[in-house]
Amino acid sequence: MATDDGTASWREALHRQLQAIPPQRRRQLRSYAPVEAPATLQASHGALLDLASNDYLGFSRHPAVVAAAQAAAATEGVGAGASRLVSGGRPVHADLEAALAIWLGRERVLLFSSGFQANLAAVCGLADRHSLVLADRLIHHSLLVGVRASGAGLQRFHHNDLHHLEQKLQAARRRRPDQRLLVISEGLFSMQGTSPDVARLAHLCERSGAALLLDEAHALGVLGPGGRGLGHGINGIA
Ligand SMILES: Cc1ncc(COP(=O)(O)O)c(C=O)c1O
Repeated sequence: MATDDGTASWREALHRQLQAIPPQRRRQLRSYAPVEAPATLQASHGALLDLASNDYLGFSRHPAVVAAAQAAAATEGVGAGASRLVSGGRPVHADLEAALAIWLGRERVLLFSSGFQANLAAVCGLADRHSLVLADRLIHHSLLVGVRASGAGLQRFHHNDLHHLEQKLQAARRRRPDQRLLVISEGLFSMQGTSPDVARLAHLCERSGAALLLDEAHALGVLGPGGRGLGHGINGIA
């Protein structure tokens, strides 16, 4: 339908772009029903083991976890009604943050409703448009969105290559000795199954006067002392 606000031409352009994508490169949204066994999904041709999710150990359907969620829904309801910033948190949030802070040996813990949001907030808290971020080539997209939102400059170093990072840190320091530098990496890169040498990474950042942000999304609960992540016990890691 032709309109005078440009909608029709916008739709046509979008349609042409979609048609230009070869069929084999088009993605489909699929849905599978959960079945009783942990991390298993029902497809039309049989059961599938779900290796794509982060629910590696199938805890999302563990009877104790499900019972606790049911009990919490009965007393707390199913939704806060507004963001925490607007209508405040609940005592259960503060209790969980306090328990996690004790477990991790940290002054405070702040929970977000997704890792994506946490990364956006963390990067914007640690870098601004005057800063330079040096990031592992394979960090998660959410961290890159955070860098873009912060306005900071961005340089990438080869995956887990601390020698390459060191060269970039030295060059950055020579160019602008007092610039705020932020290094970003992950405790466990989930697609590769690789980890940086975190102690060396932290030491290198300290020597260069750079802050270090380590995303432990896949390491927490699995790696490091008592599953507390690879950065646990190492000074200077955000
Ligand atoms: C390393 C890493 N950080 C952050 C995220 C984003 O987490 P979420 O899916 O909870 O938004 C992911 C998601 O897989 C991730 O792999």
